[in-house]
Formats: sequence, structure tokens, C-alpha cells
Amino acid sequence: MKVLVACEYSGKVRDAFRDKGHDAWSCDLLPTDVEGQHIQGSVLDILDQGWDLMIAHPPCTHLAVSGARWFKDKRKEQQEALDFVKALLDAPIDRIALENPVSIISSKIRKPDQIVQPWQHGHGETKATCLWLKNLPKLEPTNIVEGRKARVHMMPPSKDRWKLRSETYTGIAKAMADQWG
Ligand SMILES: C[S@@+](CC[C@H](N)C(=O)[O-])C[C@H]1O[C@@H](n2cnc3c(N)ncnc32)[C@H](O)[C@@H]1O
Repeated sequence: MKVLVACEYSGKVRDAFRDKGHDAWSCDLLPTDVEGQHIQGSVLDILDQGWDLMIAHPPCTHLAVSGARWFKDKRKEQQEALDFVKALLDAPIDRIALENPVSIISSKIRKPDQIVQPWQHGHGETKATCLWLKNLPKLEPTNIVEGRKARVHMMPPSKDRWKLRSETYTGIAKAMADQWG
């Protein structure tokens, strides 16, 4: 399958699909952190290039409910972020999964199809991740473990904090490749 992993610099989902033999590409405005098939640029320019499946991780900075206290000061940024999400969900691709934290996508576009947690996929941590799905089954838990640490919320300030907070968990990436690949 030809798989597009939109808004991914970490290569986590891309490489999980490549490990299963798929022709998977990541795309981000940033270069990839891990060498591999990567398109650096706007994903909006390549949505019509014959992909069978797209997994998209659009920025949540102006959408996440955790930032609600700033919402009134960033209406324009919020609308642009929502327009970007809509463009991804409306892409001419048969199967689409779009992930974001609990966000205003739910009230402004539609409710997510499911919410997954890292502890359902082998990481003893909690971080609610919403999935909006098109022509894909819900992701089944692969390895439910006991820990419920809120690791990403407790990270100390650093220049890479946003990156460390936004990287996809390898257990969830593998579940996507195993179940949707
Ligand atoms: C929340 S991060 C997702 C990180 C991802 N989970 C990973 O493991 O690499 C959102 C990413 O969207 C990228 N982005 C924003 N606008 C984009 C665009 N038009 N085309 C491609 N990537 C974009 C940003 O550069 C950022 O890296």
C-alpha cells in the first residue's frame, strides 16, 4: 500500500508501516528526525498523489482543549488550524485516520470515532488521543499495561519539549500498521 503519514517528522508511523512492507512516506514542514522516505514541504501539495491510506497528525497548538484559556486571543489561528484539519479529512484518499488530543475539532467539525491511550498499547502512561476515521475500523488495544503516568504533562521546559510531547508512541504506531496496513 502507498501510505502517507502527514505532519510527521519522527518517522514513527512511517517506519511501522515500512516494517510491514508498505511504501510509506512521512511528510512535514520539518526534516525527518530519522532517515527514511520523507517529503519536506506542505502536505496540502501532495494529497492527490494516489495514496491508499493517510494517517495525519495536524498541529494541536490552537485546537487542544488544554489551551482553552487562550482561545479568545487566537480566533484567526484557530480557524486556520480547523481549515487545515478539514482539508486533511476531505482529502481524496479512501482511508484516513486523523489524530489530535481532546480538541475543538469535536465541537467545530465532528466528534472523534474513538479515543485511544498509550496504556492500551504497551506504554504505562496516559495521554488521551482522539482518532477521526474514514473507512477504517477502530484500533483494538494490543497490550493493556498497568501504569497511568501523565509523563508528557510533567515534562520540564526545554527547547525540544513540544517535539517530545507530540511524538507518536511506538506501540500506537505499530498497532496502526498491524491493524490498518
Ligand atoms: C503535533 S506535530 C506531530 C508530530 C508527529 N506525531 C510525529 O511523531 O512526528 C505536528 C506537525 O505538523 C507539521 N505541519 C504543520 N503544517 C504542516 C503542513 N502544511 N504540511 C506538513 N506538515 C505540517 C509541523 O511541522 C509539526 O511537526
